[in-house]
Amino acid sequence: MTRVPLLAGNWKMHKTVEESRAYARHLIDLLGADPPLGREMVVIPPFLSVWAVCRQFAGTGFQVGAQNLDLGREGAMTGAVSAYHIAEAGARYVIVGHSERRQFFGETDDVVAEKAKAAHAAGLSPIVCIGEREDEFDAGKTEEVLSRQLAPVLAILPATAWERVVVAYEPVWAIGTGRVPTPAQADHLAGFIRQAIFSAVGQTAGAVRILYGGSVSLANIQTFWGMPDIDGALVGGASLKAADFARMAAVPLE
Ligand code: 13P
Repeated sequence: MTRVPLLAGNWKMHKTVEESRAYARHLIDLLGADPPLGREMVVIPPFLSVWAVCRQFAGTGFQVGAQNLDLGREGAMTGAVSAYHIAEAGARYVIVGHSERRQFFGETDDVVAEKAKAAHAAGLSPIVCIGEREDEFDAGKTEEVLSRQLAPVLAILPATAWERVVVAYEPVWAIGTGRVPTPAQADHLAGFIRQAIFSAVGQTAGAVRILYGGSVSLANIQTFWGMPDIDGALVGGASLKAADFARMAAVPLE
């Protein structure tokens, strides 16, 4: 099954609305109306900028995502933003279960699964983030942790939903640290994730894009992206400059 390579930039809590618009314009100036080499590019700004970046990208091939969603559609939930609102603004993607949400906002594996379901139901593609902490890595528990985090998502989503699901393997110890697994390790775990999805839903697992995330930079992106089971990258800090993100999208893989 062919999978369109995907480069996603998670800005986290960076950039005002004006800065976001300027970035989007800059990206189009640099690359033209479409990402290079038939790849897909997704910019994932803070909520306030989602609509503005969608407007800026209108008529181009660039996509927009949100960093989180709250459950429900509409209602008395002060401060909450639903998948329905994100989709209506024009975004196609939404991150669920980022380790920073798990760590700082107490999101459990079950809540992450519910969010993936809500995202899919609203027509979005969830980017489901999974990954082990450093102590779990040191204890050799990586595969156990990935299985535990994936299980409720596999249980809650119908098999056909997986055509639209993206999984990002982000070892927590690699996020913002400059430390990375070897490309072979990351690829082995991407294969492990694909196998787990295959066991639950069968052939559709071949359509799921699996990204690597954690200290991806212009210097190392090629080594990960070139691996057989890694279909792209979820980039944090190194995506904050449009020129760097544009260069990453154009790296040759062979
Ligand atoms: P860094 O690329 O800054 O390590 O962040 C990775 C990440 O968390 C992307 O979601």
